[in-house]
Amino acid sequence: MGDFDPGLFRATLSRFCTGVVVATGCLDGVPAGFAAQSFSSLSLDPPLVALFPAKSSTSWPRLRDSGSFCINILSASQKPVCDVFAKTGIDKFAELDWHAGVTGSPVLEGVLAYVDCDLEVEHDAGDHTIAVGRVRDVRTLVDGVLPLLFFQGSYGAFSATAN
Ligand SMILES: Cc1cc2nc3c(=O)[nH]c(=O)nc-3n(C[C@H](O)[C@H](O)[C@H](O)COP(=O)(O)O)c2cc1C
Repeated sequence: MGDFDPGLFRATLSRFCTGVVVATGCLDGVPAGFAAQSFSSLSLDPPLVALFPAKSSTSWPRLRDSGSFCINILSASQKPVCDVFAKTGIDKFAELDWHAGVTGSPVLEGVLAYVDCDLEVEHDAGDHTIAVGRVRDVRTLVDGVLPLLFFQGSYGAFSATAN
């Protein structure tokens, strides 16, 4: 693809609005996690979800090695949490309350909902991988709270329009 324009690719894909999650895990008693927008529901029967970690992620190998990961769906007020988990090489859990879900992966305080999974399989995909999770527990923690959204490099909150 000689004519491929990475800037155009990024600009075009940035028009796809997503929520923001923090994928967490716990290896040898040490919590780890990173912010992600590339997350999707995948299958109902069996219940599967997909997460797309960059090969540059330093936290993902710890989640992989633990055999599990928890998807924490951020609420609109959790932009500061996103900022922390978008950094690398720091203690991201220092200022945060959390508890272990059924897989042992951290459920962060204040999230809208979470999806706790065992890692089913991981596929190679360019500079990312496709991590498929088999869902073991799902929970909505707060109703009536808006999700954090990401669109064209900016953050916002969902606003319903009339049907
Ligand atoms: C809104 C947003 C979405 C992101 N989406 C992803 C993603 O889908 N996959 C990924 O691997 N990194 C994603 N990142 C980047 C990671 O959060 C970032 O590289 C982080 O530093 C990785 O931390 P780690 O080295 O501890 O894994 C995203 C960051 C932001 C702010």
